[in-house]
Amino acid sequence: MDLVQLLLAVVAVCLAIYYYYQSKYDFWRARGVPGPKPHMYIGNFIDVLTKKRAICTIVKDLYDEFKNEPIFGIYEGTTPVLVVNELDAIKDILIRDFSVFVDRGFHVFTEADPLSQHLFLLEPERWRPLRVKLSPIFTSGKLKEMFPLVVECAGNLERHLDKVTVDETVVECRDLAAKFTIDVIGSCVFGISAHALEDENSEFRKMGKRISTSSTKQRVREAIMQFMPSVYEVVGHFLQMKDIDQFFINLVRDTMRYRKVNNVIRPDFIHMLMELKEHPEKVDSIELTDILLTAQAFVFFVAGFETSSSTMAHTLYELAQNHEIQDKLRQEIRDVYSKNGGNLTYADVKGMSYLDKVFKETLRKYPILPMLNRRAMVNYTFRDMKITIPKGTKIWVPVYGIQHDPNIYPDPEKFDPERFNDDAAAARHPMSFLPFGDGPRNCIGARFAHYQSKVGLATILRNYKVDVCEKTTIPYEVNKLSFLMQPNGGVNLKLTRA
Ligand code: HEM
Repeated sequence: MDLVQLLLAVVAVCLAIYYYYQSKYDFWRARGVPGPKPHMYIGNFIDVLTKKRAICTIVKDLYDEFKNEPIFGIYEGTTPVLVVNELDAIKDILIRDFSVFVDRGFHVFTEADPLSQHLFLLEPERWRPLRVKLSPIFTSGKLKEMFPLVVECAGNLERHLDKVTVDETVVECRDLAAKFTIDVIGSCVFGISAHALEDENSEFRKMGKRISTSSTKQRVREAIMQFMPSVYEVVGHFLQMKDIDQFFINLVRDTMRYRKVNNVIRPDFIHMLMELKEHPEKVDSIELTDILLTAQAFVFFVAGFETSSSTMAHTLYELAQNHEIQDKLRQEIRDVYSKNGGNLTYADVKGMSYLDKVFKETLRKYPILPMLNRRAMVNYTFRDMKITIPKGTKIWVPVYGIQHDPNIYPDPEKFDPERFNDDAAAARHPMSFLPFGDGPRNCIGARFAHYQSKVGLATILRNYKVDVCEKTTIPYEVNKLSFLMQPNGGVNLKLTRA
């Protein structure tokens, strides 16, 4: 082969690759679905990969560009993803036609990453029976039994604050909230005193930090998982965070063994997981291995501490800038405590209506998951739209865009708890507020999240005034490296005894 032939062959291969990708990117155009222009191979995910922009910014910018369209199409690499803006269509996906959209469309790496076999990622076959069996863990009755454990951790938070705050102390409130939620999860999930508040070197806190810090290795790992899942099955072993996995595997195994030998019964998640293990007939169609149980405890830890602590930090950040709201909330909290001789009961938390509005407005402005994911299990035709998507199509619900849409929430950057007055909330479409998702695959821990975050906030605000200081980042900056909505560099606020 001479040089000219070689060059022609290279050009032919390049052209073939080019046309192959172009044909992939014809998917939405061929169906008459609008959308932004994709980049070769990466699709519309270049900023997700390079972490140049945060996920919430990407979701908002796309939503704002196409918000007059009921749906629009993007590409995750070469995989088509349909973004659904229209609220009735979202309701169909999450609730009415849930059986079609039961899957989130993520990969579970059973071999390479055994702890990935948890509720959030699991495929429908294993997710269904597990969700049915795990849901009773989160009922109101079970939570009521667990409530004293949360209150005990709140007592530790109060003592910790008394110790660390002299007059006008600057406190990194996300870190403070994370220590509190780790203690709560340690106690309610694992039945262990995590000591995150009192011990900077607590093993749980170290694990929490390792999980929530996005190292280069973690970013490479996430990119391979998302864009080359079959490659990850092979190389995943080398990219695993082995110390984290081993920590949770040992913890669950040792705790279960200790409880069995010593006949310990405690109203927590580990106890309920043990019950499932001892009565495998209760989980008919799947084998309930130790690793599967550990994966569930693991996701309760990860999903439980990070989400609630960022939400608590976001609430304090807003209250520090909105003193009228803060004072009104403190009054409600103090009234409740004084009615009960300085104590807080399960019913009290439920009854704090202003705290509920403040909490919801925080989750409206700062939804921890900026979008929801689903995947069609069969071909699906949208009602009122002449479009059919094939089996396997991935779906995004742009929560962040919807919750910042001025047509739904006027002046969306304003922090206004009155948006959650009963009348105002009832006047809005139910799909316009989705911080915990909706339908059968919504957040299983939503009720738990309400209680632990509200108890934590009430404990802080009852005795302390929060204020901005020179170390507070204003305007808000989101951590671009995380797929969750987290404040970049934490939330530094001045705490003064109120
Ligand atoms: C403020 C706190 C929290 C927020 C904002 C939050 C948000 C969410 C969202 C948006 C989803 C996806 C829902 C959907 O796709 O429709 C989800 C799923 C999930 N969350 Fe939460 N969450 C929080 C706290 C918790 C807690 C405390 C736990 C456990 C103790 C938890 C465990 C889970 C699990 C296991 C799933 C997967 C459920 C399934 O697929 O069946 N979350 N969460």
